[in-house]
Amino acid sequence: MPCPRRVRQVRAAHRDQPLYFMPFFKKFRVAIHETLRQISCAMITFGINYQQPGARLSARILNGNVIRDQIYSELADEIAALRANGIRPGLAAVLVGENPASKIYVSSKIAACEKLGLANIHVTPPATITTGELLAIIEDLNSRDDVDGILVQLPLPAQIDAKKILEAVDPAKDVDGFHSLNVGRLVAGRPNLVACTPLGVMEILRRSEIKIEGANAVVLGRSDIVGKPMALLLMHANATVTICHSKTRDLPQTVRRADIVVAALGRTAMVTPDYVRPGATVIDVGINRITDTAHAEKLFAQFPERLASFRAKGSAVVGDVHPDVINVAGALTPVPGGVGPLTIAMLMSNTVRAARLRRGFRIHAVART
Ligand code: GUN
Repeated sequence: MPCPRRVRQVRAAHRDQPLYFMPFFKKFRVAIHETLRQISCAMITFGINYQQPGARLSARILNGNVIRDQIYSELADEIAALRANGIRPGLAAVLVGENPASKIYVSSKIAACEKLGLANIHVTPPATITTGELLAIIEDLNSRDDVDGILVQLPLPAQIDAKKILEAVDPAKDVDGFHSLNVGRLVAGRPNLVACTPLGVMEILRRSEIKIEGANAVVLGRSDIVGKPMALLLMHANATVTICHSKTRDLPQTVRRADIVVAALGRTAMVTPDYVRPGATVIDVGINRITDTAHAEKLFAQFPERLASFRAKGSAVVGDVHPDVINVAGALTPVPGGVGPLTIAMLMSNTVRAARLRRGFRIHAVART
């Protein structure tokens, strides 16, 4: 391995041509960080603590915004190539009613389409719509040639038969990967369109060079949207996967065996440091808004800047992972700015993929399931 002085010399010599050198230095930096972390973690595991009192490990932060931008730049090339052939991929977003969180999510999805130059159609029926009326909207979108992807934002109002609606979406346009045909293809190891959040998690792990093959992975949560497809993707990538849920016995002990933890339970800060093996990779899928000051003071006791931001705004967004896990994990996705940006990036990727597949084009590599 080159010594730091040699690295500085090489870097200085190539300051004017950094582009093709950057990946090497990035990998080098990551490798050093990782090696030091592993040594620290091994020492802690064996009860040797060389650190100054009060000093802590600090996890490598897996920045979802950076990975999203990489994916967008790859997609921009693919979209340009399609447009040169007269094809403009298009996404239809169906938002039923006035759920404030859903409105924010759908606006972010439409904004991403606009940023990338994808066509978008925004359908906003009222919360009182019936299952039959919504089915008619889906049928219309299925038949339109300018629509490559259809997304029905969940949750749907209680009177709607959500399963019936999701099954009505043409599987070839099912960019959420929720149709049973697409779920079945994933189970069979022949994925086509796969749920966006788990797909985004895989991109984070792969692009951050976290080893999946042979790893013990624990998925917390068994939802159709995240937990189940996540477990399948990890299993197909040769991890040994455990799925935990609200009835799992000895939960902290089970999670502590994991090299990779994916927290998708929807419970604010539930994964505390005692759940996490030192050095493990922790992926936080949770997005929870907190407004209670006493709660914020407890969660952000070690993070004065986050507490100050909470006080200024009156709220904060926290994941399913406790902020203090940063002192134990080897790598960690932040909330916000971790998995969230990837969910939208993979929706864009799936839309481009669906546009290509529908026309019988070969598939490019952005989503490597
Ligand atoms: N609601 C929460 N997550 C999702 C998602 O990934 N897709 C859709 N359609 N609705 C959601």
